[in-house]
Amino acid sequence: MPQADRRSATAAVPNDLESFWVPFTPNRAFKRAPRLIARAKDMHYFTADGRAVLDGTAGLWCCNTGHNRDPIVAAIKRQAEELDYAPAFQFAHAKSFELASRIAALAPADLDRVFFCNSGSEAVDSALKIALAYHNVRGQGARSRLIGRERGYHGVGFGGISVGGIVANRKLFGTLLAGVDHLPATYSREHQAFTKGEPDWGAHLADELERIVALHDPSTIAAVIVEPMAGSTGVLPPPKGYLQKLRATCDKYGILLIFDEVITGFGRLGYAFAAERYGVIPDMITFAKGVTSGAVPMAGVIARDGLYQAFMRGPEHVVELFHGYTYSAHPLACAAGLATLDLYRDEKLFERAKALEPKWADAAMALKGLPGVLDIRTVGITAGIDLASRPGSPGLRGYETMERAFHNEDLMVRIAGDTIELMPPLIVSEAQIGEIFDKVGRVIKAVN
Ligand SMILES: Cc1ncc(COP(=O)(O)O)c(C=O)c1O
Repeated sequence: MPQADRRSATAAVPNDLESFWVPFTPNRAFKRAPRLIARAKDMHYFTADGRAVLDGTAGLWCCNTGHNRDPIVAAIKRQAEELDYAPAFQFAHAKSFELASRIAALAPADLDRVFFCNSGSEAVDSALKIALAYHNVRGQGARSRLIGRERGYHGVGFGGISVGGIVANRKLFGTLLAGVDHLPATYSREHQAFTKGEPDWGAHLADELERIVALHDPSTIAAVIVEPMAGSTGVLPPPKGYLQKLRATCDKYGILLIFDEVITGFGRLGYAFAAERYGVIPDMITFAKGVTSGAVPMAGVIARDGLYQAFMRGPEHVVELFHGYTYSAHPLACAAGLATLDLYRDEKLFERAKALEPKWADAAMALKGLPGVLDIRTVGITAGIDLASRPGSPGLRGYETMERAFHNEDLMVRIAGDTIELMPPLIVSEAQIGEIFDKVGRVIKAVN
């Protein structure tokens, strides 16, 4: 590493770790042996002491173009000099319209209206609110129930944890939203173990929606929200035909279908959106992360035209939807978003992900048979590898895996309990795919 880089990286070592309450992290363990990142470029992170760490996780499912790409960095710099901020309410700036049009063009069918937010959690809560308000403005205010799914992750707002299905994210936070029900999770190791892509077994689990609808009566149900591929609980691809069945049932009863594409959007499954991969058109798509390749916080909801039109009524000087955020469509985020979408297009990164998927899946499945490996799942450029838990200490082997990968193998992996999750930037080379799984294989053997 050049001397100048080493100096600036060393300056990134903090002298006090106490004040920062680190999110979704065991703070005491982390502060005893922190995993600190100083800078990044393309497929690598660099630690303060100059180690290059291969990014197996696209940051946190977001840096799909790779890190610190010059066009994105330049766009952010230019924008910071030109316009720092414009009020998000009653005023706007040109790039917000440009970015919305570009996103609408990527989304399927008439998913043409884009509402901007700053995080996936806000996007989810916005979509749920739009669903409730939509039924209200059409005189169907009794439709107030929201249906999520077990093992679903929809961020950490009260709406998101209510429809979400991760017990630890819900149990300490009171009664959550009223009127929420959950579909069963789509995963069964018995029927699906070691499947590449969408499993054959499990479409029938969508029939549970009929049962839930019958229990509550369709007239009380506003929306169903699912991740097309559940990422945060270990990469759970949808069974073949499952999403189509959900769509059909929602159509039958006038229920809105929301796809939470916060991690599946922008190429992860080889398409702009998973909706396209599965040929299922939801009423709303939530997005975040990949829209700016993680460079500036940005998120949003893409709604079908009919939803937007339903609100366009009443006196023209009156706000149609009482919802929004100070930083909705922030100029820096819009500039980063436009540069990111250019990179996806110019480098054909979605197509690249699609082309790489078979090689990625083969490389992942080659770990079958290693000690303690209970299941491996892949779809797009994602993989989930379930490890056997240490008796009495669920999550411990997973934690050891992440630590060992980072400190001993110079690889960043993500864990969900004892499941290793992998989702590198979409610029990953075939050699780097081999490197990722070689390193993961060595770690799995070491933590056995
Ligand atoms: C499917 C899904 N929805 C929502 C979120 C929440 O996004 P954020 O952390 O930006 O609030 C995530 C984050 O990983 C996610 O995976």
